[in-house]
Amino acid sequence: MSLIPSGASRAQNDSLYKMPKVTLPSLMEMKRAGKRISALTAYDYASARIVDDAGIDLVLVGDSLAMVVLGHENTLAVTVDEMLHHTRAVRRAVRRALVVADMPFGSYHGAVSEGVANAVRFVKEAGAEAVKIEGARIDLTRALVAAEIPVVGHLGLTPQSVNRMGGFKVQAKNAQAADELRRQAMELAEAGAGAVVLEGIPREVAARISAELPVPTIGIGAGPECDGQILVLHDLLGLSFLPKAKFARRYADLHTFMHDAVSHYREDVLGGSFPTDEESYHLPTAEREQLAKRVAKKEQRRA
Ligand code: KIV
Repeated sequence: MSLIPSGASRAQNDSLYKMPKVTLPSLMEMKRAGKRISALTAYDYASARIVDDAGIDLVLVGDSLAMVVLGHENTLAVTVDEMLHHTRAVRRAVRRALVVADMPFGSYHGAVSEGVANAVRFVKEAGAEAVKIEGARIDLTRALVAAEIPVVGHLGLTPQSVNRMGGFKVQAKNAQAADELRRQAMELAEAGAGAVVLEGIPREVAARISAELPVPTIGIGAGPECDGQILVLHDLLGLSFLPKAKFARRYADLHTFMHDAVSHYREDVLGGSFPTDEESYHLPTAEREQLAKRVAKKEQRRA
């Protein structure tokens, strides 16, 4: 038996979990009803439990984990197996939110059939309820939907295009590029994407697409008119070591909080105040007496 209380045995927010499971069609209902969609990334069991318990509608196992969890300089290095590993942990934690897995760079950039085969792994092996793909990949979107795999599109500043874009740069900054982005979003929706993430684009461009697109838009650095908003959890919590983006509002400073807690622990260990007697296990009295007698006998023999 584990000595550490299991997260699974803790009470969850019961009234929240009486609410129906979020699905891609229910996000569509929210758009129709004018209800805003809340979305966040999560990469492990504990943080996904907290995010789900707080009532977030969509949990994305983002390939941003390459940067904020694995310490890579961009998202390109993370593999399908790594993404599957984290998606499984998140899936075990989440009861209500829609779990979306990011398809990593290289896993859908070749033949459509290869993209479908990789997406099937996310659903079958990790329990993802939708996959997210970057760019206007219309044929792949159609093929995924035909294979019963819900798709979330991702347009604008698509981090997997960092080398082509020459950095993480705001996109669609003129009227022509805005028209092109709108066309791509429409094509994705027509091909069956159930939602589209709009990242790093001017507010006005995102507002127009959100008003015209039949499926929800989820914005990140795309202004308040999107149907929903998503942030990277580590940015929101103040846990990221990356430069802060303009849109990434920080709701906590967990970096300082964790640093202080760890420093305090270290001081207690060095000073001998951790652990205390109350934090120690004890022999039953009879066994303690027996042990004392044995020690005393040994010492007598030695003397
Ligand atoms: O990987 C990620 O976290 C994302 C969000 C920024 C949308 O794609």
